[in-house]
Amino acid sequence: MLIARTLQDLSDASSAATPGSAPTLALVPTMGALHRGHLSLLQAARGHGHRVAVSIFVNPTQFGDANDLARYPRCEDADLDLLRDAGCDLVWLPSVETMYPDIADTRIEVAGPARGWEGDARPGHFSAVATVVTKLFNQLRPAHAYFGEKDWQQLQLIRSVVAELFIPVAIEGVATMREADGLAMSSRNRFLSLQQRGRAPALYRCLLRAARAVAEGDAVPAVLDAAREDLLLRGFDVDYLALVDGPSLQAVTEPVPGARLIAAVRLDDIRLLDNVSLAPNSASRGI
Ligand code: PAJ
Repeated sequence: MLIARTLQDLSDASSAATPGSAPTLALVPTMGALHRGHLSLLQAARGHGHRVAVSIFVNPTQFGDANDLARYPRCEDADLDLLRDAGCDLVWLPSVETMYPDIADTRIEVAGPARGWEGDARPGHFSAVATVVTKLFNQLRPAHAYFGEKDWQQLQLIRSVVAELFIPVAIEGVATMREADGLAMSSRNRFLSLQQRGRAPALYRCLLRAARAVAEGDAVPAVLDAAREDLLLRGFDVDYLALVDGPSLQAVTEPVPGARLIAAVRLDDIRLLDNVSLAPNSASRGI
């Protein structure tokens, strides 16, 4: 596994790894503190026969709150061990100075799927994500890039940025990896207290129940109201819970094909994001 920390390392690594018929490069962008959700993206890329690069960069510009940035978990050694074991080919570990040379602070202005939901809750966040991911694409020039459905809006945003800016990379979405009790894996789950960890899986159960009710023909506004009520009773503050058109993130009141039920809730100061389709796969039944 090659580890690159500077643009020179990256250029050395890419010339070392392109003998004639080398497989195509796939990139998995991350902020580290890796868990099995991240590794599932790497496995998906490997499964498609790609050479896999994983970037680890805690992108300061996408954090609205300095405290959130300061306490974001960093565990480079453990991450590198996990990536080595998982068969990663290249790790890109740029510094803040490499990603943000002091030139002009160029940023991508986002629209479409970046509007609403997380876009409202975290002003500037998606512009920062689009910008850093575009920088990573230009540094590594992957043919494919893998993103988790866990961050549904982010995945759709990246698809739209790539399409609108004609960036030659194929974006692949990977299903959310969950704990046995249904909680979506997240680097921030380590901040849950024992008591919060006990309550957190109820979010996914509520989403599944609501998705089934809509799929079975119940009226969408009534289902959403009942689900919000249910979440409140279980101790969550609800930032939003909505049925949206999958690619555009526009709210819908009918179960259009590809619709997604998205939610952001808070357990005290911990924010949890999750989403499900209206036809959750059979593996999720019984949770
Ligand atoms: P991070 O939160 O580290 O997530 C990196 C990638 O892993 C994202 O595509 C995310 O959707 C995916 N992921 C996280 N949890 C997952 C889970 N339980 N199952 C499947 N995939 C999961 O998202 C970011 O970093 C950043 O915004 C980034 C895109 C790297 C830009 O800075």
